Amino acid sequence: MQVVEAKGFKIPIVGLGTWALRGRDCARLVEQAIRLGYRHIDTAQMYDNEAEVGEGVHASGLRAEVMVTTKVQPTLLSPPDLERSVKESLGKLRIDVIDLLLIHWPNPRVPLSETLGAMANMKRAGYVKQIGVSNFTVALLDEANKASSEPLVCNQVECHPFLDQDKVFAACKKHGMAMVAYSPIARGGAKGDKALESVGQAHGKTAAQVCLRWLTQQGIVVIPRTSKVERLEENLANLEFNLSDVEMKEIAGLARRGGRIVDWTWSPKWD
Ligand SMILES: NC(=O)c1ccc[n+]([C@@H]2O[C@H](COP(=O)([O-])OP(=O)(O)OC[C@H]3O[C@@H](n4cnc5c(N)ncnc54)[C@H](OP(=O)(O)O)[C@@H]3O)[C@@H](O)[C@H]2O)c1
Repeated sequence: MQVVEAKGFKIPIVGLGTWALRGRDCARLVEQAIRLGYRHIDTAQMYDNEAEVGEGVHASGLRAEVMVTTKVQPTLLSPPDLERSVKESLGKLRIDVIDLLLIHWPNPRVPLSETLGAMANMKRAGYVKQIGVSNFTVALLDEANKASSEPLVCNQVECHPFLDQDKVFAACKKHGMAMVAYSPIARGGAKGDKALESVGQAHGKTAAQVCLRWLTQQGIVVIPRTSKVERLEENLANLEFNLSDVEMKEIAGLARRGGRIVDWTWSPKWD
């Protein structure tokens, strides 16, 4: 599996998103994904599926090879809450160490330096291997990188061809962080898009594969979610072809105002 390296940490470029996957289906998909070659699984305290994700990881028999990401929910960012919740996540996942721990969303009610201090403590105490952030703006990335005593390896943000994230990507690069794209196939919206379908036809690929390849070819990590085993293979196989420069530009041109899918307006610090 190709990786994106950030501050010495290697992140498999295709991971499995698990938001909304539940119960036995979740465990089965995680296990199957790992058997098919996925080495990166994305969950969060808020998804309420860490136990099932852990079950799937263990059932694969390949725990040591898999990077597991979880995220601390925004209401638990004060140091005592964070520390307690990370220990709970470890228990649910049934693993000794979380490979990558992220702040799920910024919470202006808790000083960022305190949260990052607690995350650094969890890392130094061996509960967590690496730390990072999610849904951070350019300004927040600057603030976080100044405040953190431990390297921040990634920023996980919504990213797909219908949303221009160039400024955030440039800020990630400036700070030596990887950018991880969530909703990388626009929650299924890539399928049926005329331009993506037409580029796909030229390569014998699906619109979803073109969408994911546009991201991975830029060095952006993707974490597509599917509830269908056959699509696990389809999404992983985005790495098996290359888009031309002309195609890359054409797809970049699909960005539009209002292209964002995930609502972030509840967070007053987001700009
Ligand atoms: N950090 C954050 O705040 C945040 C926010 C949102 C998401 N995330 C993470 O990012 C992951 C991915 O984002 P997402 O779940 O929002 O959306 P996504 O991965 O862009 O899209 C998932 C949707 O696309 C469909 N799909 C999957 N593969 C497909 C294919 N090859 N062709 C056509 N349709 C396909 C799935 O349906 P089927 O199940 O029918 O295949 C599902 O409805 C999440 O699961 C979660 O882990 C993080």
